[in-house]
Amino acid sequence: MSSKNPILEALGLKGPLILSPLAGGPSTPELIAAVSNAGGLGSLGLAYETPEQIHTIIQKTRTLTSKPIAVNLFVPSEDPALTSEQINSAHDATKKYREELGIPSPKVEPPYSINFDKQFEAMLQEKPAVFSFTFGLLDRSYINECKKNHIITCGTATTLEEGILAEERGVDWLVAQGIEAGGHRGIFSAKTEDSMIGLFPLVRFLATNLKIPVIAAGGIMDGAGIAAALRLGAKAAQLGTAFLLCEEAGTSKPYRKALLDKGNLHTKTTRVFSGRIARGLENRFMKEMEERQGSILPFPAQNSFTRDIRRKSAELGMSDFLSLWAGQGVAQIRQMNAGELVSVLFDELNAAMKE
Ligand SMILES: Cc1cc2nc3c(=O)[nH]c(=O)nc-3n(C[C@H](O)[C@H](O)[C@H](O)COP(=O)(O)O)c2cc1C
Repeated sequence: MSSKNPILEALGLKGPLILSPLAGGPSTPELIAAVSNAGGLGSLGLAYETPEQIHTIIQKTRTLTSKPIAVNLFVPSEDPALTSEQINSAHDATKKYREELGIPSPKVEPPYSINFDKQFEAMLQEKPAVFSFTFGLLDRSYINECKKNHIITCGTATTLEEGILAEERGVDWLVAQGIEAGGHRGIFSAKTEDSMIGLFPLVRFLATNLKIPVIAAGGIMDGAGIAAALRLGAKAAQLGTAFLLCEEAGTSKPYRKALLDKGNLHTKTTRVFSGRIARGLENRFMKEMEERQGSILPFPAQNSFTRDIRRKSAELGMSDFLSLWAGQGVAQIRQMNAGELVSVLFDELNAAMKE
């Protein structure tokens, strides 16, 4: 691993490995600290947390590691104005699930997400080494605030065009998110439909056209995958799915069970849970709601609207209605603790780089 790597140099990491921010449950202080302590960079996925929770979670993580950590938030989306037809149709499509789970239908009213400026302020006060974000570009004022506070900024791109826009906006690093990736797609370019570019061409495009370091994300599950990303020009790899079964992860029991179900390890992209395209294991909610495209609210309204269903499903230990985010590499998932996984990945990477 070259000492000229700007990401390793900036943070003093042992190897070019970043744990994906895994908002919605799997991200815990214990997981992030274990990865950072083992020489990678742990990222806290805090997009769904209130400013108070952001302070508490970062401070808890700091009690578990003195190493650098990253914090990740979602670039805010405007709350959509919904017609009563849209709302009725959404209620109608999900009525049978709520009846089955024994929960009442929620009111559909904004705000559908937590105030971004307050989340950003909380993050800024805690001064993580890195602030990463997805779903768009942030105004330059936010980037400048980070720079003033010596926080490295990291955007997310799914196309060459998005990468160029992010670099022009002044981010320090960029995650290249291939179509293989688990979880939400960071796509934000309004000009195109999702172009679904695979990680190989995406990393190559971005690494050869941008000056800032590129981080490869999507379907990477082992050291050979990290080595391949580095050979394509990435300076680090960001892995999410690979860590979902680590004991420190907050992955729920039914989610873990689904990840271990060798008979059902194919993933699909869908908008049914949040209104935004994301990749996960197919389950009943995904299959059935895919047939009701006209009843899916735009992001973030759908995310807020289906939260009660996902919560209750987890509580009852059922995976039928959970968002089972996972990348295309999920069949290679391993069960060990996070520190151990990081050292196995580094050993595999070293071996692969010698080949
Ligand atoms: C459960 C889960 C939650 C995720 N949450 C976030 C998030 O909060 N913010 C973000 O930028 N990316 C998020 N991602 C996407 C990751 O940043 C990254 O693109 C992905 O993990 C890479 O693909 P892989 O999961 O196949 O390794 C999430 C991915 C998963 C699997």
